[in-house]
Amino acid sequence: MRILSGIQPSGKLHLGNYFGMMRPAIELQEEGEAFYFIADLHALTTVRDPTALREYSRELAIDFLACGLDPSRACFFRQSDVPAVTELAWILSTVTPMGLLERCHSYKDKTSRGFAASHGLFAYPVLMAADILLYESDLVPVGRDQKQHLEVTRDIAIKINELYGEVFKLPEPSIRGDAATVPGLDGAKMSKSYGNTIEIFEDEKTLRKKIMGIQTDSTPVEAPKPTDDSTILGLYKLVASPGEYASMAEAFRVGGTGYGDFKKALFAAAWRHFGPMREKREAILADPAFVDAVLREGAAKANTIAEKVMARVRKAVGLAG
Ligand code: TYM
Repeated sequence: MRILSGIQPSGKLHLGNYFGMMRPAIELQEEGEAFYFIADLHALTTVRDPTALREYSRELAIDFLACGLDPSRACFFRQSDVPAVTELAWILSTVTPMGLLERCHSYKDKTSRGFAASHGLFAYPVLMAADILLYESDLVPVGRDQKQHLEVTRDIAIKINELYGEVFKLPEPSIRGDAATVPGLDGAKMSKSYGNTIEIFEDEKTLRKKIMGIQTDSTPVEAPKPTDDSTILGLYKLVASPGEYASMAEAFRVGGTGYGDFKKALFAAAWRHFGPMREKREAILADPAFVDAVLREGAAKANTIAEKVMARVRKAVGLAG
């Protein structure tokens, strides 16, 4: 089984990225042949500062490795190190109906937040389809916000197969119920573009301040607190043990504990949860050549597979004999 996923270097890694995609991806690297990449070509649609893009890419590589990506099991590379992906994106775009892209939420969402309505942003799902189909992926671990892009990928693959014979296999998304949509500080989906993120490698003081700033309702200390849709409980479930979570949920139900105390417990659990990864990150930071070597080897392997698939695609569509 081949597993593939990507993440954009468009800011610092947050809890949504980690629990929605990275942790499942890291677990899945034991289950099959994994391909994980830094989607820097996608990030170009929103990051206009070249220095920032380089920095985000590098940090993302370090952070993913610190979180447990094992380069001896998973092929880890930068999307732009495999030029075939843009060639495939073009070929796919020639069969992609405009209506399919017009229906995508993420374009409408991003332009409504002020991002330039560029062709790249509009065609974003086609490049993502190319990422997935280029490596003949079976399973794609993502958060719920990417589900529609997986459907677009399947539609494009079906279209190519109808036109040119069996060129691609159809990938399946893998979306974890417990972390499909991790809530942010304001209770909405945690997202870089909403400014409501909690970064996983935040320093202690900032992490505490952010968690203490989670928006809550005005239920008095002594009263029972609503557990449904509670951001504190939703996040605590991810970073605490099942027993700790059950006790906090019970304390919500019986009342007598204020939100401030719950937030303190959430901070303590979050800080503890990422402790081992912070340590690993320090070790990786001390050895910059390691990251370069991982990405170089990853790119070489990814290019070998990409070229094999592209030879088949070029032949199927008539670009090669
Ligand atoms: P990106 O960079 O926006 O996010 C990376 C991954 O994090 C997940 N995620 C979340 N999951 C749960 N709750 C949240 N609050 C949350 N916020 C982010 C996203 O669902 C995603 O899985 N288009 C992709 C990158 C990409 C890609 C691909 C993914 C490019 N090519 C091919 C898979 C396969 C994106 O923008 O992810």
